[in-house]
Amino acid sequence: MPSARMTIDPHFAIGRIRRRLFGGFVEHLGRHIYDGIYEPGHETADAEGFRQDVIELVRELGVSTIRYPGGNFVSGFRWEDSVGPREQRPRRLDLAWHSTETNEVGLHEFSSWLEKVGSDLMMAVNLGTRGTLEALDLLEYANVPGGTELSERRRANGREEPFAIEMWCLGNEMDGPWQLGHRSADDYGKIAAQTAKGMRQIDPDLKLVVCGSSGAQMPTFGEWERVVLGHTYDDVDYISCHAYYQEKDGDTGSFLASGVDMDRFIESVVATADHVGAVRGSSKRIDISFDEWNVWYIDRYEGVDKITGIGNWPVAPRILEDSYSVLDAVVFGGLMISLLKHADRVTSASLAQLVNVIAPIMTEPGGPAWRQTTFYPFSLTSRLAQGEALEVKLDVPTYETARYGEVPLVDAVATHDAANGTAAVFLVNRSTTESISVEVDVVSLGEVSVRETHVLTDADIHARNTLEDRERVAPAPSDTVALDGGVLRLTLPPVSWTAVALG
Ligand code: AHR
Repeated sequence: MPSARMTIDPHFAIGRIRRRLFGGFVEHLGRHIYDGIYEPGHETADAEGFRQDVIELVRELGVSTIRYPGGNFVSGFRWEDSVGPREQRPRRLDLAWHSTETNEVGLHEFSSWLEKVGSDLMMAVNLGTRGTLEALDLLEYANVPGGTELSERRRANGREEPFAIEMWCLGNEMDGPWQLGHRSADDYGKIAAQTAKGMRQIDPDLKLVVCGSSGAQMPTFGEWERVVLGHTYDDVDYISCHAYYQEKDGDTGSFLASGVDMDRFIESVVATADHVGAVRGSSKRIDISFDEWNVWYIDRYEGVDKITGIGNWPVAPRILEDSYSVLDAVVFGGLMISLLKHADRVTSASLAQLVNVIAPIMTEPGGPAWRQTTFYPFSLTSRLAQGEALEVKLDVPTYETARYGEVPLVDAVATHDAANGTAAVFLVNRSTTESISVEVDVVSLGEVSVRETHVLTDADIHARNTLEDRERVAPAPSDTVALDGGVLRLTLPPVSWTAVALG
């Protein structure tokens, strides 16, 4: 059996883990809102029509900030449609997802849902088909206490206190040609800077996210960040990263190494941002908001009109409803390790998405809600990763991948909460065939014992949770973990994700 050694030491601190790293994303897309979080006829629905079984699962998942209302949807979004008396709200065509938007759920209703799940709102403005003025109007409506046309309209609509939304995205994926209102880096950088300046005049404490590339595969990646930050460096706090991974052509080895790609992506954007800052002689640091990340079998998605019919604009079509396997969840856990390894610069992230749409939580109309395999690495990491992220010094075997060259068989990160004397280590075994025995030197943590262990693996790496078999896959405690004389020993099964909590 191959073996690996590693050391956990609080001196190897990467950075404080911000709770915003465990954010989510809710888009008006498919069955995310309608027939997802909102289903007035459902037996668990509360007085506002929100499914309480879904609310409980979202709370258990442990999501902090939730990005809303898109995504591609935001580039056609008229925020005024989503507020005011419900019976007067217009039904609109949503061109991004070839659907009908009823506007039954809008800003007020979604904020109320967020209070129920215990999360904060991260709002996106439409810089695709709209501009600075509409963004400023939305901010006035949401955050100004009163005494102006739009803040008074909010109060008349039943919300006395401002929504006090702190995080704002300046559009979505503006480099993507699929995006309505897609712009060049230069054009987008100018409108983003102008919008950011105006928004800060209204509320100087906002945290603003400018759009980075829609992925490292985009032809303009790198240059896009350089030009956009050239315009916006002084006016924004974050630049976004988006990345989706899938197994292609049966290349499981590369798929399992997706975290390597995420590492490189982050490090490349950080380097560009720091370069732009250095050229300007600025002492300011731009952080990353990794506000879309997940496994997504995008190649299997043919386009909404092919699914729903070109003349058909359904409400809540069943689209992007990926079903996740154990293999997907192990890759997903590896992506969370990658985010934590960059906790010094990735200080906000949003899992895309939350319910039904490429989601950890699935629902059936009139039926149950259940946890997909990916639910577990998210909920466990969100709960156990506290305090600071620690770099783990790794001595592990490597393997060759078609996409990323030679990569380590095991990836890991640790966390340490000095205030509570607790720590955790998260590990992924990328081998498809071999268990790996691991020795972790934890002497520097002092007197600790093993509090919890969780292993996500299965003899069938394609096993998944479905409507018919909702609890087929769940993590189990490890039966190999032993801690003795400051050395933690455990065996990682092939294609597995493991969390060990110490304290
Ligand atoms: O998350 C699904 C879609 O992926 C989002 O709407 C868009 O921003 C991205 O391309």
